[in-house]
Amino acid sequence: MDPKQMPREMTGAELKSMLKSSINFKSLGGLKSEELTLPPEKKQWWRDAKVGMFIHWGLYSILGRGEWVRFNEHIPEEEYAKLADEFTGENCNMEEWAQLAEDMGAKYMVMVARHHDGFALWDSPGSYQGFTTMNTASHRDYIREYTEAARGHDLRVGIYYSNMDWRFPGYFDPKGKPESAAAMKKQAYDQIAELCGNYGKVDILWYDGSWLNHSGSDTTAAWLWEPVKLNLLARSFNPDLLINPRSGWEGDFYCDEGSHEITGKIIPVPWEKNMCVCSGASWGWMANDPVSDLDWLIHMLVDVVTRDGNILLNVAPDGKGAIPETVQNRVRELGQWLAENGDSIYGTRGGPIEPVDKVYGSTSKGQNIYLHIQDPAAFAGCTVPLAGYRVLGCSYQGEMVAYTQDGDSLKITLPAGLPKQADTIIRLQVDRPVEPKKDAEVYFTGK
Ligand code: GLC
Repeated sequence: MDPKQMPREMTGAELKSMLKSSINFKSLGGLKSEELTLPPEKKQWWRDAKVGMFIHWGLYSILGRGEWVRFNEHIPEEEYAKLADEFTGENCNMEEWAQLAEDMGAKYMVMVARHHDGFALWDSPGSYQGFTTMNTASHRDYIREYTEAARGHDLRVGIYYSNMDWRFPGYFDPKGKPESAAAMKKQAYDQIAELCGNYGKVDILWYDGSWLNHSGSDTTAAWLWEPVKLNLLARSFNPDLLINPRSGWEGDFYCDEGSHEITGKIIPVPWEKNMCVCSGASWGWMANDPVSDLDWLIHMLVDVVTRDGNILLNVAPDGKGAIPETVQNRVRELGQWLAENGDSIYGTRGGPIEPVDKVYGSTSKGQNIYLHIQDPAAFAGCTVPLAGYRVLGCSYQGEMVAYTQDGDSLKITLPAGLPKQADTIIRLQVDRPVEPKKDAEVYFTGK
């Protein structure tokens, strides 16, 4: 192969400069595995999907002090386990959750099947001590209900699973208590097989908690989990399964977590931001958790998509399984915005024009480039760099917009009297299909 054609490895200063943004991939440095690497076409549906809904629901939702409550407040195991008697799911209707995800404009869902507390929301023979919803007050298999409801709404099915489980002393001292650590590992293998094997086609496996004893990283704990083996098991049920990067294997996409704002350049690799619709102080339900402002959520979404990422937005049902109305309303407003502006989001790629933080960014699809303008006043002073494409038309909501193109520079005169809005979208039609940046141009070594 001609060396110029070979995929480049990006290391050192170049990698640092590439990542000179607020995007902070948790996953860099995961183990590599040729056997697990999926070709880009198998990830295409996910890259086109752009928006997913994340759901954190479990025993911790009853207490309303975050999904880490058992650990943070040192709640004894037996006492915490008693919460299962109250976990009846009386207001949990998965059909409504899936409808809400559809209303939000999500194309996939990711639901927590088991968090760090060990409580499994499905019929799990592999659960250590049978700590499941089937064996306790609800007697329901929520993963069955969820997977069926999501598919019924044409949503791709994602499952979150925490490898680690606080109930095992071997988690806190894996070398000192190897039998307990091995039992925890066995549980993970058994449960991954159940989740990927017993519920029809699962599209995304979203790991968390592969670290050990609250230290190190998912990768430094790979000696225990053997993530390549674990993921080969998962893929034996669905060879096209997309896997996030948090098992210790590098995964099919990268992952930026939390509500920090997104700045910097386009990162042309598959990546996902996961964050909460509410304050982000907790992923699990909290009473009166403030719901984020709609314009802010639109900015986050656009900031992610213009940098070529996906967004996974978390909602938290309460202890009885109801999603607060304030959250539902906000999510539907976002969905309304997406229904009106989805052309410039779904199926697009970030670019070709690099974003200017807080001012504008771009997405593209076919011969269309969409400029997403956050700050029209600042944009008015900008010359848009557009190399390699001739603009044939420029419009705002179907009305022509004046522009001049001089070589690689484009000047746009925004229409007067624009309403104040989170995102002013200008569509450029160009003379040839926009070429997305190729993933192979950048691939991280994690060094
Ligand atoms: C963190 C937390 C966990 C949460 C997850 C969501 O890893 O430990 O509580 O579920 O992030 O991304």
